[in-house]
Amino acid sequence: MNVLMNHPGIGKAASPAGEADLAELKEQFRSEPYRSYLYSYPHKTSYRELDTKLSLSELWSGEPAETFFLYMHIPFCGARCGFCNLFTLPDKRSSVHEQYVDALERQARQWAPHVTRRPFARFAIGGGTPTLLAPALLARLFDIAEQIMGVDVEQASISVETSPETVTEDRLAVLRERRVDRISMGIQSFVESEAAAIYRPQKPREVERALELLKRESFPVLNLDLIYGLPGQSVASWLYSLERALAYEPEEIFLYPLYTREHTIVKPLDRLREHGDDPRLACYQAARDRLIAAGYVQSSMRRFARPAPLDTGKILLPYGCQEEGMVGLGCGARSYTRGVHYASRYAVSKSATASIIADYVAAESHDTADYGIVLSLAEQKRRFVLKAILHCEGLELSAYRDRFGSEAAADHPELAQLLQAGLASVAEGIFRLNEEGLAYSDAIGDWLITPEIRRRMEGYVVA
Ligand SMILES: C[S@@+](CC[C@H](N)C(=O)[O-])C[C@H]1O[C@@H](n2cnc3c(N)ncnc32)[C@H](O)[C@@H]1O
Ligand code: SF4
Repeated sequence: MNVLMNHPGIGKAASPAGEADLAELKEQFRSEPYRSYLYSYPHKTSYRELDTKLSLSELWSGEPAETFFLYMHIPFCGARCGFCNLFTLPDKRSSVHEQYVDALERQARQWAPHVTRRPFARFAIGGGTPTLLAPALLARLFDIAEQIMGVDVEQASISVETSPETVTEDRLAVLRERRVDRISMGIQSFVESEAAAIYRPQKPREVERALELLKRESFPVLNLDLIYGLPGQSVASWLYSLERALAYEPEEIFLYPLYTREHTIVKPLDRLREHGDDPRLACYQAARDRLIAAGYVQSSMRRFARPAPLDTGKILLPYGCQEEGMVGLGCGARSYTRGVHYASRYAVSKSATASIIADYVAAESHDTADYGIVLSLAEQKRRFVLKAILHCEGLELSAYRDRFGSEAAADHPELAQLLQAGLASVAEGIFRLNEEGLAYSDAIGDWLITPEIRRRMEGYVVA
């Protein structure tokens, strides 16, 4: 048994599982490491119509977070990629974009009195592809953030998502002017046939053009997204894409294992597991080794960053990821208070997405939340643990105790099982997954979903 099991708060509550059970648990994670991406807990498919509508003042007046995070969602793309199940619509029409930004401005005006009690430590514009918007509309998003929501661009860390074909000089000029710190671009693969196989019509030449432009503008942080496990991809071709990305010396790289679902164009690939181990695991390990050799520091299964200190010339507000209030503007954006997570309805199909966006654009009033989930104390505790252990910083046991007045180990006996299975350790009061545990983040995260949330997720029908 792991000697660290004796750490106060962990060992005491350990209900020693049999060795056979622990070996089986580990084998379960190893044989199926990619079960679900818990980008946020509880997953949005657990949201439902709320029993009673909640007003914004009820939701936000008692929110204890010291800083807020403003997120704007732009649910449009040039085309829908075959693997993507994000809330987005292929629509390039500027009139459609303009009506959407009008609605977002209306929503901001109604929300601002309730959610500007605290400074915004972070502001992000995501999607979809926000840079599909024309430069003047993009600039309007920043006007809304600054003039209506009160974001101080000298203090907030600002991040914007983009895609290669929408990177143009005039759009980047807007982002530079508005003090954007981080640009995150999806590339997925530098191999044309691999991009084609996931229905992402993207020429490597186009990607390189965008990267050269981004490098010239030198934003403080450039992040690039790559996907492994693509149809037709080998470990060698995956590493080729990684090398191409590294040639541009991005400050951050996100490595995503490919997820396919029944309702995406690219269907689940049964071939992946026909021959033993999931081939994504070999891609992950090869890329991880390469990035660490190149001096990147791993902060989660997906995120790697160069350790160079970030000097943006800003006076950054301290923000604790654990405790932030998330204010989501736009259709498809989620908002998180400590006790309630809410959003607009979610869809993937073109017709359902279009109809949800049309309702949003037509709505006069945005002053209540009617769709989401009320987090019980048990779910708040589970969320706290999940957010912490799926990142390299780990779970600070005293922070858990301070927040909930109870011991993490007693509330979550699974932590002791992870220790006993040799997938985690405790040092200086911090519970952390080790290298192997981190590689199984998507299996461990899935395993930690409570039965109540799983029941809701399984009952969800994707429109
Ligand atoms: C909003 S997109 C990025 C910006 C832009 N729309 C683009 O695609 O270039 C977020 C990222 O999530 C990742 N992603 C989305 N769906 C995925 C899936 N089904 N499997 C793996 N990664 C996925 C992709 O790497 C993508 O770049
Ligand atoms: S991956 Fe990016 S560009 Fe492709 S559909 Fe999803 S959000 Fe749009």
